[in-house]
Amino acid sequence: MSLSLTIPAPIAPPTPGAPGQLRHLLGIRGLTRRQAEALLDQARLCKAARHAPAETGPSRPLAGRRIVTVFYEPSTRTVQSFHAAAAALGAQAVDLPVDRSSVHKGERLDDTLETVAAIGADAVILRHPQTGAAHYAARHLDVPVINAGDGTGEHPTQALSDALTILERRGRIAGLKVAIIGDIRHSRVARSNAHLLTLLGAQVWLSGPPTALPPAGIPGAARVARDRAEALDGADVVMALRVQRERQASGLMPPAAAYRAWWGLSAEALEQCSPDVVVLHPGPVNRGVEMDGELLADPRCAVRQQAANGVPVRMAVLLTLLARGGDRSWSMCSSAAGW
Ligand code: NCD
Repeated sequence: MSLSLTIPAPIAPPTPGAPGQLRHLLGIRGLTRRQAEALLDQARLCKAARHAPAETGPSRPLAGRRIVTVFYEPSTRTVQSFHAAAAALGAQAVDLPVDRSSVHKGERLDDTLETVAAIGADAVILRHPQTGAAHYAARHLDVPVINAGDGTGEHPTQALSDALTILERRGRIAGLKVAIIGDIRHSRVARSNAHLLTLLGAQVWLSGPPTALPPAGIPGAARVARDRAEALDGADVVMALRVQRERQASGLMPPAAAYRAWWGLSAEALEQCSPDVVVLHPGPVNRGVEMDGELLADPRCAVRQQAANGVPVRMAVLLTLLARGGDRSWSMCSSAAGW
C-alpha cells in the first residue's frame, strides 16, 4: 500500500497540559504525573465496573458518541481494545479500512481525517508510520485525537496498559527496577514506557544491541545499561520488545539466532532478576526471538494481562476525553475524570 506521507517535519512536541485541559492524548510526554495517575485510577475503576454484575454495572456514559479508528499500520490488540472499550461505554466504534480507502487513490492524511470528521467523529484514534502524525492530526481536527502509535514516536495507551499491569502485579511502580530490552531505538512502546514509568518513580534501564539504542535523547529519566546483565540484575519488571524490522535499515540488528542468544528472554536469563519478576511484551511476540515461547505460559509472564488491560485503559482515555459534565456522574468511573 502506498501511503501519502504529507506531514511536514519537524513536528513540535506537545506542550504540557494543565490539569483539566487534556484535549487529546498524543503522548506520555506532556502529561503531568497527576494526569497519568488519574488515567490509571480511572482505568482501575473502569475495569471493576466492566466486570460488575449487570444490575450494578456501568451505564452507557458515551451513548450516541462515535469514535473512528484510522490505522495506517496493522494492529490486533490496540484496535480491538479501542472497539471493546467504546462498546463498554455505549459509544459506537467504526473503523476506516485504510487499505481499501481513498488513501489508495493518493488522498493526503489531512484530507482523509477531515473527511472522517465531516462525516461524523467524536474522536479519532490514529496509527500511522510517520512520527508526529498524531500531533499533525490534532492541529487539523476539532475533535480529540488519540495517538495509537506514530512511527518511532509514542504509543501512550500501550504504556498505560503496561503500567496498570505492573500495578496489579506488584502493587506499586515507584521504586521498582524496570528493564526494557531490545530494539529501543525504533520502539514507540519503549519511549512511552520510559516516560511514564520514570514519571511514576520507577528506575528504568534500557538495554539492546548497540545499533538499536537511541543515538541521542534517552527518553524520560531512563538509563542505558552497560550490558544486558546490568539491566536484568535484580529487575522487578522486564519488558521485551518486538524487533521493528519495518522501521530500520537492514543490517542494524543481528540475525534472529544471535539476537535470541544475546537479548532474548529465557527462563535462564530471568534467573538474574528478582524472584517475582513480571515479564511483559507489548505483542506481537516473535517466539524464540525476543522471548522463548514457553515463557508465555510462565506465571511470571503478564503478556495476556497486558492485552486485557488495554480495554479498561482505553475506556479511561475515552471517558476522560469525551465525557461531558453530566456524564461524569457515571457512578463507578467518575472519580478521576474531572482533574
Ligand atoms: C506495538 C506497536 O504497534 O507499537 N504493538 C501494540 O500496539 N501492542 C508493538 C509492536 O508492534 O512491536
